Amino acid sequence: MNRKKFIGIVGGATIAFGTASYLLSDKRNLVRADIKPADDSTKPTLRDHNETLRPDEKEILFLASLAPSGHNTQPWFVQYLEPYHWIIGNDKSKWLPAVDPTQRETMLSIGAFIQNLEYAAGDFGYICDWKLLATTHQDEQVMEVSLIKEASKNAFDISKIKNRRTVRADFLNDVLKPEDLKYLVNSEPEFIHYLPVTSQESQYISEQTIEANRLQAYRDPAQQELADWIRFSSQNAEKYRDGLTTASMEIDGFSGWVVRNIYSKDSVMKKDFRERGIDNIKKEVSESAGWILITSKDSSVATLLETGRRMQSLFLKVREKGIAIHPMTQILEESSMRQDLNQSIGISENIQFILRAGYLKNYPLPVSLRRPVDWFIRK
Ligand SMILES: Cc1cc2nc3c(=O)[nH]c(=O)nc-3n(C[C@H](O)[C@H](O)[C@H](O)COP(=O)(O)O)c2cc1C
Repeated sequence: MNRKKFIGIVGGATIAFGTASYLLSDKRNLVRADIKPADDSTKPTLRDHNETLRPDEKEILFLASLAPSGHNTQPWFVQYLEPYHWIIGNDKSKWLPAVDPTQRETMLSIGAFIQNLEYAAGDFGYICDWKLLATTHQDEQVMEVSLIKEASKNAFDISKIKNRRTVRADFLNDVLKPEDLKYLVNSEPEFIHYLPVTSQESQYISEQTIEANRLQAYRDPAQQELADWIRFSSQNAEKYRDGLTTASMEIDGFSGWVVRNIYSKDSVMKKDFRERGIDNIKKEVSESAGWILITSKDSSVATLLETGRRMQSLFLKVREKGIAIHPMTQILEESSMRQDLNQSIGISENIQFILRAGYLKNYPLPVSLRRPVDWFIRK
C-alpha cells in the first residue's frame, strides 16, 4: 500500500469513527417540551400517590412547581393530609448551604411556589385557606393549606405560570417605559425599587455583581455546590428533572455539545471554567435596563414567604411586556459584600432580591425542568 492510499484509509476511518461517535453522542439540549407527561409516573413506589391525587389537585401542584428556585433545587415537598388539604414542606435535602446558609433563599422559593399554587387553585375555582406553621427557616412544615371550592372573583391566566422563565442573555439596554414600570410596581413602591441603567446606583450594583461572582467562583464550597447541581448530560437531566441544564444555562450549539459530552463536576472546579463564568457575568450585566430590587421590612418566616410571593407575582407579569428578569443573588450571598450594599444605594430596608431586567427582542420558551408531582408528594 502506498503512503497516499494509507492516509486515505486512515482518514476515512477517522471520519467514519468521528461521525459514528457524534451520532451516538448527546446531540441536543433537553428542554421542558421534550418531557412528555406520560413519562411522569416513573417511580413505581410512588404510584399510590398518583392514584390518590385528584386530577385537578395534580394539575394545581404541577403549576405550583413551575416556580423558580436557586439552582432550580425545587426545595419544596407536599404532605398529603386528605383531598385538598396539604402541608407545604421545606425539603432539607435540597438546601444550598454554601450560598444560602440561613435558608433565606429557600424560603423565598417556597413563597414563589405558594403564590403559584394560589393562582392555579383560583383558576380551578378554589380559594386557599393558609395557616403558617413554621417559626424558623429550617422547620420542615411550612404552611398548611385547604382548598375551598368557591366561585373565584379573579381567575388567573395560568398560561402566565406555564410561560414564565428566567432569561439571562441578549437583553436590550433601553430603560423600562414608565407605563410598564407602573404595571410591574403596582401599588407597592415601598417593596419594589427600579434602578435604571443610567443611574449611579445601577452602575454600582453591576460592578458589585461582577465582584461578588468573582469571589464566589473562587470560593470552593460554593463552586462545588454549583457543580453538584449542574446536570451535564441530557440523561442526568431527565433522571433528576432539577438543577441547571445546558438549556437553562443558555449554553447552545457547539459549546452545549462540549458541556453535555465532555464536561464533568471536575471541569467546574478548573480555573478556565471559573474565569469563563465571570466573563459571562460581565457580558450579562452589560446588557440591561437596570435592576429591580425587592425589599422587606424584616426577615421573619412570614415576611420571606410574602416576599417570595411578591417576587413571583412580579415575575408572572413581565413576559407580556417583553421584559426579562434574571435574579443575580451573589451580592446577597457573599456576606463581605452584602454589608455595604444598603448604604451605597441609599436603601434602608432588607434587600431580598436583586433582579436584572431588560427588554428582549425574542422571548424564548421555558426550558428548565421540574420533578413530576409524584416525586414531591409525601403521605
Ligand atoms: C431565590 C432565587 C435565587 C436565584 N439566584 C439566581 C442567580 O444568582 N443566578 C441565576 O442565574 N439565576 C438565579 N435564580 C434563577 C434560577 O436559577 C431559576 O429560577 C431556575 O433555574 C429555574 O428556571 P426558571 O426560572 O426558568 O423556571 C434564582 C432564583 C431564585 C428563586
